[in-house]
Amino acid sequence: MSRNAGIVTISHRLTGPRFFVAKDMSVLASLYPFIKPLLFKLDAEVAHTLTVKSMILAHKLGLLGSETPRKQTPVNALGLTFPNVLGLAAGMDKSASAVDAWGALGFGFVEVGTLTPRPQPGNPKPRLFRLPEHRALLNRMGFNNPGIHSAVEKLRHRRTKAIVGVNIGKNFDTPNEKAVDDYMHCLKAAYPVADYIAVNISSPNTKGLRDLQNEESIRALLGTLQKEQSELEKQHGRHVPVLVKIAPDLEELHIEALARVFNELGVEGIIATNTTISRAAVTGHPLVEQAGGLSGAPVTQRSTEVIAAFRNLLRSEIPIIGVGGIMNGKDAAEKIQAGAKLVQIYSGIVYAGPALIGDVLGTV
Ligand SMILES: Cc1cc2nc3c(=O)[nH]c(=O)nc-3n(C[C@H](O)[C@H](O)[C@H](O)COP(=O)(O)O)c2cc1C
Repeated sequence: MSRNAGIVTISHRLTGPRFFVAKDMSVLASLYPFIKPLLFKLDAEVAHTLTVKSMILAHKLGLLGSETPRKQTPVNALGLTFPNVLGLAAGMDKSASAVDAWGALGFGFVEVGTLTPRPQPGNPKPRLFRLPEHRALLNRMGFNNPGIHSAVEKLRHRRTKAIVGVNIGKNFDTPNEKAVDDYMHCLKAAYPVADYIAVNISSPNTKGLRDLQNEESIRALLGTLQKEQSELEKQHGRHVPVLVKIAPDLEELHIEALARVFNELGVEGIIATNTTISRAAVTGHPLVEQAGGLSGAPVTQRSTEVIAAFRNLLRSEIPIIGVGGIMNGKDAAEKIQAGAKLVQIYSGIVYAGPALIGDVLGTV
């Protein structure tokens, strides 16, 4: 393989077809259209594990490109400078095992997790499904993760310039009355290594979790976390912003109530949205009865509506990270027009591959 004049040629020692990789496009992005049909023949979770492992290897071999040649327009938000507007959404790298690779692929930020105090296996398999006709995924992973302390150890050794957010949650067997203890545990553990912390109260796959979005519960939870955050700031001499990740399945009055609480408490940012429990966009599909959260194209519009609603209600200095069904650059631009300061992707990368990164960065 050789690199010259912005073109990567990986063919001269191969007898097969020649692949030319455009400038600013990683080798993986160019190969993805060939790899995707093979990956889609595998079980979705097996394909995911294989892809992440291959990416780590590709990064070690220097095949992912580097963070520097890509056009970067930095974004100042949360008191941080993000190398660019695009992040990897939570759930893709639950164990924080590939942050350097995601950075090399072109992401300006990577949100790892959701991480819980204790490691947990998540729900029984199968728990991740593709709905290719709808460019969607359905998952009920249930916070499978190696525990916050394992992720923190990995993050201590990271080398990427990408901003790293740590998304935290509660263990499945922690009752909601004690949820605050789990979030506190994770906040304290993640604080020294995180650039920001995302409080996940919106995954549909941990029983009762979304009840924490009730006005009283969220007020109590965030109030307690903010007090601890002030203590941690003194202890570590560094401010780490705390954000809240919310669901798309909120009614207007609920959005108003949440926005009121966020304004009153001075929440530093919100991430909108998680997956949806609505099946309206996939009626009649054989998987429609399966439990879990739906992501990808079916959530694009709703997530943009929720962003717009919060943008209208939140104090202007509170940034919104827009996520949900960004399948191309135009979807990302619409989220920014609706009021998102930064955007994240997950399902889109499964369908479009790493080329989506260039598409988004080239459009917004
Ligand atoms: C398989 C899978 C696992 C996910 N796990 C998490 C998670 O652990 N924590 C979280 O906050 N969001 C999780 N999400 C939600 C995504 O971060 C994102 O909010 C959602 O999928 C909508 O974005 P998308 O349409 O670009 O995928 C997960 C999504 C998928 C598809």
